[in-house]
Amino acid sequence: MVKICCIGAGYVGGPTMAVIALKCPMIEVAVVDISVPRINAWNSDQLPIYEPGLDEVVKECRGKNLFFSTDVEKHVSEADIVFVSVNTPTKTRGLGAGKAADLTYWESAARMIADVSKSDKIVVEKSTVPVKTAEAIEKILTHNSKGINFQILSNPEFLAEGTAIKDLFKPDRVLIGGRETPEGLKAVKALKDVYAHWVPEENILTTNLWSAELSKLAANAFLAQRISSVNAMSALCEATGADVSQVSYAVGTDSRIGPKFLNASVGFGGSCFQKDILNLVYICECNGLPEVAEYWKQVIKINDYQKTRFVNRVVASMFNTVANKKVAILGFAFKKDTGDTRETPAIDVCKGLLGDKARLSIYDPQVTEDQIQRDLTMNKFDWDHPLHLQPMSPSTVKQVSVVWDAYEATKDAHAVCILTEWDEFKSLDFQRIYENMQKPAFIFDGRNVVNAGQLREIGFIVYSIGKPLDAWLKDMPAVA
Ligand code: NAI
Repeated sequence: MVKICCIGAGYVGGPTMAVIALKCPMIEVAVVDISVPRINAWNSDQLPIYEPGLDEVVKECRGKNLFFSTDVEKHVSEADIVFVSVNTPTKTRGLGAGKAADLTYWESAARMIADVSKSDKIVVEKSTVPVKTAEAIEKILTHNSKGINFQILSNPEFLAEGTAIKDLFKPDRVLIGGRETPEGLKAVKALKDVYAHWVPEENILTTNLWSAELSKLAANAFLAQRISSVNAMSALCEATGADVSQVSYAVGTDSRIGPKFLNASVGFGGSCFQKDILNLVYICECNGLPEVAEYWKQVIKINDYQKTRFVNRVVASMFNTVANKKVAILGFAFKKDTGDTRETPAIDVCKGLLGDKARLSIYDPQVTEDQIQRDLTMNKFDWDHPLHLQPMSPSTVKQVSVVWDAYEATKDAHAVCILTEWDEFKSLDFQRIYENMQKPAFIFDGRNVVNAGQLREIGFIVYSIGKPLDAWLKDMPAVA
């Protein structure tokens, strides 16, 4: 029986391995992690991450051919294929701080693999890593190998949170990069055979190692760039009276462009886009390509601009001050159908409003008070480290309350900011919300989920990103 071990039981390691276990009953899969609470949660009824369909897959396989364990060394030493899906945060200190990927966790995993291995292994990069990381990992493994043969493969993950199980069941493509030597090709074939249990062969792409590593960074940069492009247009739409939804639709019907990922919003978030683009920028700079680096940097700059623009719009519309005003925040996760708050635009928007002394009442169907307080007190990039190594939040932000109901959040509020596109926000009873709010009652829709026309009829002053502005908002321009 083939044995697989995955180091890192996070948003990628957990769902990916659960699906491999489900689709390959003849393969034994162990997911290991240094975080005890995380592994305990994977072994409980309350999984550590929320992802539609994940519970069912885990329940089907756990204890049969899918195991979660903190005994990292045992499972690594027994495995034929070792996936590494650990954190690759942005460096906060030293060379490349604020841009380069911090490979501390990756390196420590590689050294541990070399230490405990007694048989040949295929080591698979599942984490997103800088191009050429495989070379460094290969050196670590071979210098400590005691004659054991290691083959390194790059197999970046393209799943999107919120649709991870769907994406894993039917991926657009699986990408496997390996050395173009007989041993390398054999390793590629072994991993291909795993995916071939459910992925059509034509959807399994094989490349050299460097192309696979770079493709992941490139794919995330292209995706984020589309969002920044449409968000840049949203600012121009507001200034000219065009409607960004109509513009996106007209642009997206061009078959060369396509309709996906063209929704204007308060900005992109998630653990990957910013981190991976910063990493790409750093790699370009290191390779003497400052123009290319500058080009990709703009994608992040527009994203930051969009969040600032939103905060400025809120404050400017409300007579240039939100001090002591209650602002309801609906949605904190970086997108719907996930509880993940890493790099969510809600953090910057909330911090911006708190900077102007607002009182915030936050509701998100999947995010806990503890998480929100941690996010609002943590330093940039601290979130991307294993849970037990993250700083504990020293104090809570007093002007923030977290509630478990949208009606409670909006009661007596001066304004509502919608920051995540949860479906339930579309069907709220806005008449009831309006009656319980201070007047004038404002709605700032950062995801274009509500029907602005209907809300205006109720009496709200409505701001929808990239849409023609209410007369009120036109008279109160936001200047950064
Ligand atoms: P995560 O933070 O959810 O999980 C990483 C896990 O690795 C943590 O539970 C941590 O405790 C564990 N870990 C760290 N060092 C370890 C070690 N030496 N031994 C054992 N366990 C260790 O991170 P996530 O989101 O799963 O991301 C992992 C990698 O996958 C990152 O490189 C990320 O860029 C990439 N990725 C993430 C995607 C996402 O949607 N979250 C999508 C595609 C790629």
